[in-house]
Amino acid sequence: MSMPLRDRVRVFAPATLSNLGPGFDVLGLAIEQPGDCVDAEWSDRPGVEIAGMRGNADRLTTDPTRNVVGIAAAAALRLVDARAPGQRPSGVKLWLDKRMPLASGLGSSAASSVAGALAVSELLGGALGRRELIASALEGERAVSGGVHADNVAPCVTGGFVLIRSYAPMELLSLPVPEALRVAVVHPHTSVSTAEARRLVAERRFAIADAVANLGQLGAMITALHRSDLELLGRSISDALVEPVRARLVPGFAEVKRAALEAGALGCSLSGSGPSVFAFAKSDDQARALAARMSERFREAAGLECDRYAGGVNVRGACRVDAGA
Ligand code: HSE
Repeated sequence: MSMPLRDRVRVFAPATLSNLGPGFDVLGLAIEQPGDCVDAEWSDRPGVEIAGMRGNADRLTTDPTRNVVGIAAAAALRLVDARAPGQRPSGVKLWLDKRMPLASGLGSSAASSVAGALAVSELLGGALGRRELIASALEGERAVSGGVHADNVAPCVTGGFVLIRSYAPMELLSLPVPEALRVAVVHPHTSVSTAEARRLVAERRFAIADAVANLGQLGAMITALHRSDLELLGRSISDALVEPVRARLVPGFAEVKRAALEAGALGCSLSGSGPSVFAFAKSDDQARALAARMSERFREAAGLECDRYAGGVNVRGACRVDAGA
């Protein structure tokens, strides 16, 4: 197999909302912004080197064995070598532009992991397929989140809504994206450790009635996406299992959710393990207004400032971009 080498590439990997209410560890959605960028080039030095970092990188290490971008890039190189041994230059140098907040519930580690794996693939002319990119990125995710969950990594790679039908073997289903759907996201300036938030869930015993409630909502959500029924989609964002356990990790969450729903949000929940909160909207204007209201409510209720994002669904997934992007 011959692989067309590129000298240098830049890739972008989008933020993702996961769980989406009833779909703990099985539902995720890519959004347009924010996202992480990685530049990569070949190096004579064997292995993966993180040559530089900027953005929200103060708490990150350049040790490639302890930074998800390096872990995922190394996993991608192993896959390439398994397929075509001895076909590539010795090593890879990476520069991480960490645009996403850490521990935000927006799939920050997944975005860096996907960007690391995709950068390697793109240096090789796009050598890895989506499944291989997801497998490589999951190596990074595994290192930081206290368990394997693909509901950030998968939509980050594919774009759009993804349902994980099965983890072993991994089977992903892409779901339709209603054209009018817009998303408001606020990230309050506090952090939640995904590993800690997952431990809270793992230690909990759940009532069968709550599992039944979530099953109904999850089925309704899939139906709503296929019908482009935004009202039903919004009503289905209801989680009787995980959100009640984690809500106390996010000061002001109950007030913010109530404010979003009172302001007309289709639905609202924690994104992943939090602290970010998302709401679904029917238009750009509504999404912007919701992000502003939710942000204001976090300040009033908990004294927390927020980053806010309002926009559409990223349907393309992680991709190579121009060097200036
Ligand atoms: N599904 C994962 C969780 C996402 O909720 O723990 C983590 O961002």
